[in-house]
Amino acid sequence: MSRLFSPWTLRGIVLRNRIVVSPMCQYMAEEGVAGEWHHVHLGSRAVGGAGMVIVEASAVSPEGRISPGDLGLWNKEQEEALRPIAAFMRSQGAVPGIQIAHAGRKASTASPFRGGRFLSPGEGGWRTLAPSALPFGAYGVPEELDEAGITTLREAFAGSAVRAASAGFEYLEIHMAHGYLLHSFLSPLSNRRTDGYGGSLANRMRFPLEVVDAVRKVWPMDRPLGVRISAVDWVEGGWDLPSSLDLSRELAGRGVDLVDCSSGGIVHDAKIPLGPGYQTAFSERIRKEAGVATLAVGMITDPVQAEHILITGQADGVALAREMLRDPYWPLHAAARLGVDSPWPLPYARARS
Ligand SMILES: Cc1cc2nc3c(=O)[nH]c(=O)nc-3n(C[C@H](O)[C@H](O)[C@H](O)COP(=O)(O)O)c2cc1C
Repeated sequence: MSRLFSPWTLRGIVLRNRIVVSPMCQYMAEEGVAGEWHHVHLGSRAVGGAGMVIVEASAVSPEGRISPGDLGLWNKEQEEALRPIAAFMRSQGAVPGIQIAHAGRKASTASPFRGGRFLSPGEGGWRTLAPSALPFGAYGVPEELDEAGITTLREAFAGSAVRAASAGFEYLEIHMAHGYLLHSFLSPLSNRRTDGYGGSLANRMRFPLEVVDAVRKVWPMDRPLGVRISAVDWVEGGWDLPSSLDLSRELAGRGVDLVDCSSGGIVHDAKIPLGPGYQTAFSERIRKEAGVATLAVGMITDPVQAEHILITGQADGVALAREMLRDPYWPLHAAARLGVDSPWPLPYARARS
């Protein structure tokens, strides 16, 4: 029996296996609205057999986009464009998930394939928002959020959660990683506030946890809620694993069902020891010490490696990103490799060896 191909229950939702397509920005949206690219890209990965496909970071407000090509979920048109995509993924047996995000001080850049540099307002960019007026590398200096701005953004996250539920998504993930807005409140490297939202660990966690509370209140009780964190900043004096353990316990107590364990992103020059499964140790510690289900991610490419992560208790599920770009049918190939008799899409049955 393969653990990778065992069903996975999260609240009222059952995944057919423990393979998750990690959220991946495509930078192909117009005004935040999904188009044909998103249908085909996401639909292919659902056809490919994943248990869940998570739609890329979708901005809760216009200035929360990383680039002008990001998806958004701040208006009705964006919600309507996502509805058939969620329905198609569901029809193919994959749980439709979506990540909601605000890029904070890392917003307002060109997409990576257009150079990726910071865009000033005169170049099609916009004014960025952050806990403190500290720029990310050579990006523009962000505006420090005041209490009214914090309240507006908390409501924006909740508004996007309502739209995600209405559009038919069954899993919602709050992006609290990679140096974006919520992570930038957590990390002492980017949060230098002296009010109730900065200073102590409890204060730095305050706004991200308020967002979680606001979202959990509107996200349906029978659907799982996840949070992606950067378990460590990989910088001396930055966010660390003990802080992630505290945060994960708080999240679990607030009705978060899954912690998606990534890392890094708060500074551009961190030394990250990249290698196969380089983040699974974080997922293992959080799962065991915070008592919450976890998703392992990062250079997981091989079915045997994925199986090993699960049977050794390092995570409850695995998320794959780049490998799913190389091979949208990875789950079908993984089943064959592990000797699992997993169904293929009926129109493709004649190709099954
Ligand atoms: C093209 C691309 C876009 C990405 N966009 C997102 C995103 O929208 N949200 C997110 O949390 N991570 C994003 N990531 C990070 C991946 O989800 C994943 O955590 C990372 O690539 C490591 O996994 P991998 O080694 O399997 O690629 C992106 C990665 C890639 C390659």
